[in-house]
Amino acid sequence: MTKKEVMETVLVSLGKRSYDIVIGQDILDAVGPRLKEYGFSKKIALVSNQTVFNLYGERVMNSVKAAGFDLSHILIPDGEEYKDMQWVNYILSELLKEGLDRKSALMALGGGVIGDITGFAASIYMRGIGYVQIPTTLLSQVDSSVGGKTGVNHTLGKNMIGTFYQPRLVWIDIDTLKTLPWRQRLSGLAEVIKYGVIWDAGFFQYLLDKTDEILSSIPDNLIYIIKRSCQIKAEVVSEDETESGLRAILNYGHTVGHAIESITGYRKFLHGEAVAMGMYAAASLARSLSMLEPDDLTRIKNILELYRLPVKVPTKISRKGLLELMYHDKKTISGELRFVLPNKIGGVSVVAVSDTDKILGCLQA
Ligand SMILES: NC(=O)c1ccc[n+]([C@@H]2O[C@H](COP(=O)([O-])OP(=O)(O)OC[C@H]3O[C@@H](n4cnc5c(N)ncnc54)[C@H](O)[C@@H]3O)[C@@H](O)[C@H]2O)c1
Ligand SMILES: [Zn+2]
Repeated sequence: MTKKEVMETVLVSLGKRSYDIVIGQDILDAVGPRLKEYGFSKKIALVSNQTVFNLYGERVMNSVKAAGFDLSHILIPDGEEYKDMQWVNYILSELLKEGLDRKSALMALGGGVIGDITGFAASIYMRGIGYVQIPTTLLSQVDSSVGGKTGVNHTLGKNMIGTFYQPRLVWIDIDTLKTLPWRQRLSGLAEVIKYGVIWDAGFFQYLLDKTDEILSSIPDNLIYIIKRSCQIKAEVVSEDETESGLRAILNYGHTVGHAIESITGYRKFLHGEAVAMGMYAAASLARSLSMLEPDDLTRIKNILELYRLPVKVPTKISRKGLLELMYHDKKTISGELRFVLPNKIGGVSVVAVSDTDKILGCLQA
């Protein structure tokens, strides 16, 4: 397979806060020259963890230094449990010690954990400095690096501390996915499928038609699905930057998904796997409310299975326990459970459901 020469660009259109997402193959060495366009001061810092830094740190560092920047790097331990205020503080201390100024920038090299904590640190250091994302997991490339949600976990709740703060640039090299564990890759594909269900029936069909190419990482197909996912998320976010309305549709599959992650202590399932079960559960609920045709429910189940994602919530998991957790989710508004439910492939509505038997029923399916 010859390397793809072209870089695709998706513009996230947010007025003065607009930025480009650049997607290509083997483009890590090209990020340095691009940074010169942003008017950052000479001193910038890269945040990563040892796993990702060992794989890609040197290439990014060399490219950025060759472009004339004085680049330092800050490593934090690898894992969701380190996405917290203690490590934010560590990053901020390093930035002060290194003498980063108000025009400096941070670069995030890693998955969603690194992206979220780096974006948050950038949003509060000296009341906000620029940041650039180089996401290296499929989930972060199609989801967490787009949209400007930053933040960390608190002992009393996941992602409870954070800001809306847009990056200046997102730089996606699909070659970084070559080292990503297979399960992580499938987990990212769950979010890709989500975009098809909530927004674009044509994209859903593409994902069905090109399953083999996508699962075997043919570059053209990978670039296309990442680009289309970013476009859809960008479109939704551009209309509703701070989640007061439309953006809620991105939570399709997440009401049940978050409850599954929580009840299993975030250890048994990857995020996308939990979301896959959540998407099937929500589609089943839509069917039981006569919102969705039986054929469409079957198609949603089939696509998840084709991408080797789980659809049924394991019987060991307490349904009542899940329901309780859903009521405690931060997205619950005045005690009413709201679900993003598909009414066809490519369209969803946000529906308040008070019939708990129906909800329990969709979890039994
Ligand atoms: N901000 C948002 O809008 C948003 C959206 C979705 C998820 N998130 C957050 O994203 C986080 C999950 O992100 P994630 O799934 O990317 O997990 P992650 O960042 O923990 O990465 C998963 C694992 O893969 C490793 N890794 C990363 N890139 C690699 C590569 N190219 N090769 C080999 N290993 C690699 C990481 O070191 C880590 O061990 C969660 O904290 C979640 O809350 C944020
Ligand atoms: Zn998600």
